[in-house]
Amino acid sequence: MSSFQLVKQSLEGAGQDHVLQFWLELSEEDRDVFLQELVKLDLKGLKDHCEGAAKAAASKSSILDLDMDPVPPEFMGSVRKSDTKSLTAWEDEGFLQISKNRVGTLLLAGGQGTRLGVQYPKGMYKVGLPSGKTLYQIQAERLCKVQELADSKHGSKCTIPWYIMTSEFTLAPTGKFFEENNYFGLESSDVIMFEQRMIPAVSFDGKVILQGKGKIAMAPDGNGGLYQALLDNNVLVDMKNRGVEYLHVYCVDNILVKMADPVFIGFCVTKGADCGAKVVEKSHPAEPVGVVCRVQGVPQVVEYSEIPLEMAELRGPGGELVYSAGNICNHFFTRTFLQDVSEKFQDQLKQHIAIKKVPFVDAHGNEVRPSQPNGIKMEKFVFDVFPFSRNFVMFEAVREDEFSPLKNADGASTDSPTTARNSLFAQHGRWATSAGAMLLDHHGNQIPPSASDDCPPAQCEISPLLSYFGEGLEFLKGRRLVTPFILDENTAESLRTQQH
Ligand code: UD1
Repeated sequence: MSSFQLVKQSLEGAGQDHVLQFWLELSEEDRDVFLQELVKLDLKGLKDHCEGAAKAAASKSSILDLDMDPVPPEFMGSVRKSDTKSLTAWEDEGFLQISKNRVGTLLLAGGQGTRLGVQYPKGMYKVGLPSGKTLYQIQAERLCKVQELADSKHGSKCTIPWYIMTSEFTLAPTGKFFEENNYFGLESSDVIMFEQRMIPAVSFDGKVILQGKGKIAMAPDGNGGLYQALLDNNVLVDMKNRGVEYLHVYCVDNILVKMADPVFIGFCVTKGADCGAKVVEKSHPAEPVGVVCRVQGVPQVVEYSEIPLEMAELRGPGGELVYSAGNICNHFFTRTFLQDVSEKFQDQLKQHIAIKKVPFVDAHGNEVRPSQPNGIKMEKFVFDVFPFSRNFVMFEAVREDEFSPLKNADGASTDSPTTARNSLFAQHGRWATSAGAMLLDHHGNQIPPSASDDCPPAQCEISPLLSYFGEGLEFLKGRRLVTPFILDENTAESLRTQQH
């Protein structure tokens, strides 16, 4: 039987024969492309996928009766609440592991960035900084710097491999972007890109949606597609070959992300954890961040789209939010835990449904952009492996220092390019002033580094190649810095050689 006939038969068996309704209208070339796409589909699982999606969308959500409780304090570390001695010990441990090449980072970058509204991968977005740097460049430079710090602390040359999970939408442009930018100073062999799977979007009556006459509407399978992708692309083997035992997994859009954070890694390693989550205190009950907690005694994240309002709003005796541990999508995993969940448990990962407006072709072959949601996308979430952990820990970071995500286009009041940029300026301003510098406006008047609604922070941008987290800026002592001020290798050099 030809591959076309096999595909046709499988589609009919899955109740999806409409997929080929425009076959005769397609050119030879388009048929070839379409057939290749169809052959790659999991045709055996298609029926279950479509029926499951329609059923899940039709049933009332299962959010009502969550038996939640907060993560107990004995499984927590915190920048604010732990003493300096512990924080230093964790950081030392983290640097030690980094220096021994046991630490890797993994970026989840397969998302489509729909909310930001750009047509290219979010990591390529320029946030409007004076230096013109993109999110990818900032992350790459922080990685260079943290490697350098580990090197100088331990006197040996180390590498933190950077695994980047992309999807069909983001792989090619991301690869090209890194190549064009010479991997931002990293070794290209230490930047490992791999692709997650795509799955069909389904209509409410359980039919695969055709986006074109010869194209199915496909979407990445959620950031929990990571576990399948690790196996598909032999990533765990690569980690093992490099001796990587610990992984820092994070999402692309947090401008303040502390790459391979030695404190977080050291904390998790010291506690013997196989899985960990970094959190910040939620700013308000409706903030769109997942809540790290326990459900029926098992560690879990309840996503912002799924938490019942009364739980999100629940307050303790002192007025504090009971479920305040906001997930910032920064996770720690041991390689062995990842191996275990990828091989044994990923079939058990929950499927989450997202109801979306999916462009489609109607019965007459016209392309339609629906004004109302018409489709279901099924997604797995990266944190849904937490329940399989044997020793889960949580680490609370300080929001101003570590979390300012870029989710929305400018104009939105939160999580926009402007708020992200301002968070970075404010942080760098704090670093400069605590090193003893004074920030001035162009009239020479002093400006406070802290921001408020009516007074955005002074534009002070410090290259990650000079400082990873505020260290190494002693040469700024007593300097009067006129803003906008960029501290890069050139300005640093001239400040170092200049007399006060
Ligand atoms: C995510 C978290 C949420 C957290 C918030 C903090 C998940 C499921 N949710 O929400 O709990 O509070 O970040 O900012 O992690 N991605 C892929 N493949 C996909 C889909 C997404 O790699 O198929 C990547 C994105 O590129 C991004 C990351 O996963 O880097 C998070 O995705 P996003 O859609 O931004 O998640 P949020 O809804 O903001």
